[in-house]
Amino acid sequence: MIIPFQEKQREQFYRLLDKVFDSSYWSEGEMTRVFEDKFGEYVGVESRAVVNGGAGLLAILDYIDVKGHDVIVPANTFWATAQAVKKTGGRIIYADSNRSDLCLSFEDIKRKVTSDTRAVIVVHIGGHIAFEIEKISEYCHQNNIYLIEDCAHVHGASWNGKKGGNFGFAGSYSFYATKTLPIGEGGMVVSGDKEFLSWLEKYRNYGKYVIDGKVCYPVKNGFNYRMSEFSAALGIVQLEHLSEILDWKRSLAAKYDAIFERKVVLPEGMISGYYKYIVFDYPRLREVTGQVFGINDLGCRIEGLDLHLENAEWIVAHHQCPPMYYGWEYADKSIDELRDILFK
Ligand SMILES: Cc1ncc(COP(=O)(O)O)c(C=O)c1O
Repeated sequence: MIIPFQEKQREQFYRLLDKVFDSSYWSEGEMTRVFEDKFGEYVGVESRAVVNGGAGLLAILDYIDVKGHDVIVPANTFWATAQAVKKTGGRIIYADSNRSDLCLSFEDIKRKVTSDTRAVIVVHIGGHIAFEIEKISEYCHQNNIYLIEDCAHVHGASWNGKKGGNFGFAGSYSFYATKTLPIGEGGMVVSGDKEFLSWLEKYRNYGKYVIDGKVCYPVKNGFNYRMSEFSAALGIVQLEHLSEILDWKRSLAAKYDAIFERKVVLPEGMISGYYKYIVFDYPRLREVTGQVFGINDLGCRIEGLDLHLENAEWIVAHHQCPPMYYGWEYADKSIDELRDILFK
C-alpha cells in the first residue's frame, strides 16, 4: 500500500515552507510564480493560480462577460460548472452528453446554439479529454463562441499530445483534495490570451493594481481569489510527483482493463489521467468511488428543471467507478484478487 504524500515529498515541502517563511511573502510571492511557470510548462499553456477551480471558472466567465447571455453547459457535470454561470449572470443552457465519453455532445451543442450563445463549457469528465473536443473547438471558433474547458478532472491527460486547456479560450483546473493533483484547495486558470491573463492577475486581487506606486482598481467584479504561498509550495511538490501518481493510476487501470469489458474505451491517441475509471452495466461493485456524476449532482435537478436529456439520465443510471484514488489499499493486488474484491 502506498502513502499518498511520502517522506521525500514531505521533506521537499518543508524545505519550501522554510523558503516562504524566509521570504516574508505569505501571499503573492515567488512560490506562486514558480508554480504557475511549472504548471504552464507542464500543460503547454500559460497559467495563473487561483484559490479553487470554481473561482477559475468565475474569472473566465466574468472576463468574457456572459451576463444576460446563453452559456451551454453539460447536464452531466458537477454543480460547480453551472453554478459559476449562474453567479456571473449567464443563462444556463443544459445540453446532453455522449454515452461513450460522458462529455458534452457536439450534436446537442449544435441544437442548443442560438444567436445569443456567448460560450460553451466542455467538462473533460473522468480524466480523459472530451472525445469531440476538436470538432467542438472548430465549431466554436467558426461561430464566434468562446470555448471554455473545465479541467477539474483532467490532470495528466492528453489527446494526440495536447493536454487539457489547449483547445479553447481558457480552462480551469482544480486541485481540490480528491483531485489527481491535490493540494487541499486550489485552482489554475490556463489560457493563451495574454490580455485575459493580465486582467486575471488584477481580478483575483479585488481588481486592484499598483501603477507607479499608485493604487487603482481597473477591473470590475474582482474579489479575493488568490492562492497562498503555502498552497503554491505544495503545488510545486505535487506537480513534481504527478508522474508517479499517474503511473500508479495507469497500472491499476491496466488491471481493470482486463477485468471490465463494458467501460469508457479510449480512442487511439487518448491518454487518460484516470481521475476515475468508468464502467457500465455491472452489478453493484463491492468497492466503488463517487460517480461522475450522480443524479443529485446534476444542475438541472438542483434547479428543479424538468429536462429530459436522455444520455445524461442514462449515464447516471448505468455507470459505476471502481476505486482509482491514489493510495487505494488493494491497488497492488493481482487481477484475479481484484476481481474477487470487486465482485464477491
Ligand atoms: C467538474 C468540476 N468542475 C469544477 C469543480 C470545482 O473545483 P473546486 O472544488 O476546486 O472549486 C469540480 C470539483 O470539485 C468539478 O468536479
